[in-house]
Amino acid sequence: MASEKTFYLETFGCQMNAHDSEKVIGTLRQQGYRQVESEEEAGLILYNTCSIRDKAEQKVFNRLNDYKALHKAGKRFGVLGCVAQQEGEKIFERAPYVSLVSGSASYRKLPEMLSRLESGENRITGLDDRQTEETFETEFTARQNPYRGYITIIEGCDKFCAYCVVPYTRGKERSRTSDSVLEEARRIAGMGYTEIQLLGQNVNSYLDPEGKRSFAELLLAIAEVDGVRRVRFMTSHPRDFTKDIVEAIDAEPRLCDHVHLPVQSGSARVLKMMAREYTPDWYLERISWIRAAKRKISISTDIIVGFPGETPDDFIQTMDLLAEVQYDCVFGFKYSARPNTPALTMIDSIPDQEKSRRLQVLLDRQREVQRANYSRHLGEVLEVMVEGHNPARGQVTGRSSQNKPVNFSWTDPILPAPGSYLQVKIVATHPNSLVGEPI
Ligand code: SAH
Ligand code: SF4
Ligand code: F3S
Repeated sequence: MASEKTFYLETFGCQMNAHDSEKVIGTLRQQGYRQVESEEEAGLILYNTCSIRDKAEQKVFNRLNDYKALHKAGKRFGVLGCVAQQEGEKIFERAPYVSLVSGSASYRKLPEMLSRLESGENRITGLDDRQTEETFETEFTARQNPYRGYITIIEGCDKFCAYCVVPYTRGKERSRTSDSVLEEARRIAGMGYTEIQLLGQNVNSYLDPEGKRSFAELLLAIAEVDGVRRVRFMTSHPRDFTKDIVEAIDAEPRLCDHVHLPVQSGSARVLKMMAREYTPDWYLERISWIRAAKRKISISTDIIVGFPGETPDDFIQTMDLLAEVQYDCVFGFKYSARPNTPALTMIDSIPDQEKSRRLQVLLDRQREVQRANYSRHLGEVLEVMVEGHNPARGQVTGRSSQNKPVNFSWTDPILPAPGSYLQVKIVATHPNSLVGEPI
């Protein structure tokens, strides 16, 4: 094996995982590793995995299987993330060529685990027992996104919704101090990031361990950091959604006018079976706070259809809630049974075909809502942050403060840089994007 230490890392799953990978890459570089673009080139092959739906663990084993011949050539394999935490040492039984299995709650031990790996040890594990209070903070984060700086402010989840693996894969809910979050925000604003996105499975469940700032106060403090123009946060949980978040957005234009507030179902009965700990009325009260803001705040959500026991009438109630809220974006999912979760013991008797039908009905209806919502932007001038270019179409792509994609044509040979801001007049609208002209 060459003396140079190289790694390949592939990431699956949510934004938290993507940002964890930025921290893992930074940590590996700090340990003298160089990142390469393919499994074949790498000495160490890592998969940062997701387990949220659809037999995700099987996909990871398939991927490992595809490349297992590389083991004979001296390459080492590591499984990170939610499948690693969920399957634990079982991974070594099914894929004996794997040397390292680590869940996200153990990443702060990565340097130690890497040196054990280098000294030839096998079957190294970093598995969480839902005890740790520590968060993974590192100054070596290798930010991959050129225009949006992610900062995890809270890790884990204590909510235990009946269908969800996250409390088992990401450990106990624990927050960073608001001082350390602010310090990181200042550091990355100093690097030129003007948009900061705060992350957490339930970002608004944030509790400053030092008690200095509430979540809303932290939002305001970040918006005031020199150089910051946009602050986003994902995902908010209805249970912990407080009025002061809306007041903060109202008071501070640098806080983006968008809230992602997953409802999951419009039926009180289903919400109860899901253990979401709120009713549709309770959720709609939070929506009414957001609607009462002086700024128009965009709202998006997640919905699960076909949860065990969801009747056609329950589903109609979800459709009614959708009609009432008129979301700007809906992520709809068919329920899928996941290991270790309480819903696994409920009878999942709705045929897949019926789940697909409900999902299609929901997405079709939502498309019409969005067609109407997006068309209201016609003629408006929006500030757009440039995200990239589509050379084939001669187009620049970006996002409005409300997180809506905006595309516009660009003829000048000098393209606007990702992360720059332009004023764009909206001249056409689609259900999922806006079309504009820079002014
Ligand atoms: N913490 C956030 C959501 C995190 S998971 C919240 O509670 O709102 C992201 C989304 O995946 C969830 O909102 C849910 O809609 C979906 N999801 C989670 N587990 C699922 C499962 N077993 N089947 C289908 N969808 C699921
Ligand atoms: Fe999963 Fe519920 Fe926690 Fe969200 S709040 S991560 S859905 S258990
Ligand atoms: Fe997937 Fe884990 Fe995120 S299960 S969605 S990577 S928290």
